[in-house]
Amino acid sequence: MKLTSEEQDMLDGVYGKAARKSMEILTTLGEIFEAECMVDVYGVQIAGVSYDNLGEAGLEFLNEMAEDGKIRVLTTLNPAGMDRENWQLLGINKEFAINQNRVIDAFAKMGVITTCSCTPYFIGNTPHFGQHLAWAESSAVCYANSVIGARTNREGGPSALASAITGKTPKYGYHLDENRLGEVLVKVTTPIKGTDEFGVLGKIIGDKLVKLGKKIPYITGIPSATVEELKSFCASIATYGGTALFHMEGITPEYNYYPKPDDIIFEINQSDLDKTRMELIDDDIEIDFISIGCPHASIHEIAEIAKLLNGKKVKKEFWITTARPTKKIADETGYSKIIEDAGAKFAADTCCVVAPIKGRFKGIMVDSAKACYYGRAKNKFKVKIGSIEECIEEAIK
Ligand code: F3S
Repeated sequence: MKLTSEEQDMLDGVYGKAARKSMEILTTLGEIFEAECMVDVYGVQIAGVSYDNLGEAGLEFLNEMAEDGKIRVLTTLNPAGMDRENWQLLGINKEFAINQNRVIDAFAKMGVITTCSCTPYFIGNTPHFGQHLAWAESSAVCYANSVIGARTNREGGPSALASAITGKTPKYGYHLDENRLGEVLVKVTTPIKGTDEFGVLGKIIGDKLVKLGKKIPYITGIPSATVEELKSFCASIATYGGTALFHMEGITPEYNYYPKPDDIIFEINQSDLDKTRMELIDDDIEIDFISIGCPHASIHEIAEIAKLLNGKKVKKEFWITTARPTKKIADETGYSKIIEDAGAKFAADTCCVVAPIKGRFKGIMVDSAKACYYGRAKNKFKVKIGSIEECIEEAIK
């Protein structure tokens, strides 16, 4: 790879041990993917923050990097394994809480903003069109590339941290125009509405892309979509299809930037949606846990939940997972009080997938196709998808 003199100095250890290790990680990646050079990144988002995923080995790596490592660009974290303020109320044990805080402290020592969220674009880690990033969380990567038109590969924990410390990432993959072209034309012939339905659509397209061995769909037939619907769609298509970029005609910023694909075409109708929705509802499910906010809930979603819960009482464990700054807005506007008076709980900094709750519940109801996937695969729950309204009906009945 062609390195600038500053990048070469980092590799030679002039900027310290952590910068050298970081540049080693990035040049190795660049060589594997035949990048010609590095590119400056505007921001970084680091995943693999839960102590559940990292363990002592991951923590050791972080502590080593934190000895002399300091970040150069705005960097935030993906959800951790617990709400940092409210972990006891959510049933997290003390030993886990101590270890999770050791992880966060190591990131804080390097200057990382310790807001733990998979929706960095809601909380100030917000790029604009064309900016290069090194983000790690799959739903956020898909959102950044597709909805914002920024450019990022899906980074692993170590490579994202390396980019934070150097401010660089190797220029390959989604950083290059030639890798951003739509490959498959998807025609949606039925109306799609709500976070749950956009999640179902993401599963249909994701599953199909895996069968076709393709990554980038060009989707037509969707006249409008809210930010919340798009975040749910991104989480789902990234989970089921490994998709990091899609184009949606009339909605995403690059839809008319590249030619529309015309070789592989498939259609999605109402019966496809109904059939796939049924795949996200387990037989004989006994729901004892409801969670909304995968990806992390926006203030719009929290306002909607507060409206639906006003004056009611939930009868089951009910979490709203969100970023702490969003929760603070909910506190100021009074939404938190309405929601907490109804008996629901906020789980800021974390979510129903990364929290260590395996086996604690029998059945989970969510509005997210991604949470269905991990609810089954990671936490061994039975799952049911529904709209936010349906989730709340279930909680209060
Ligand atoms: Fe975010 Fe957790 Fe869902 S990290 S995308 S809320 S699985």
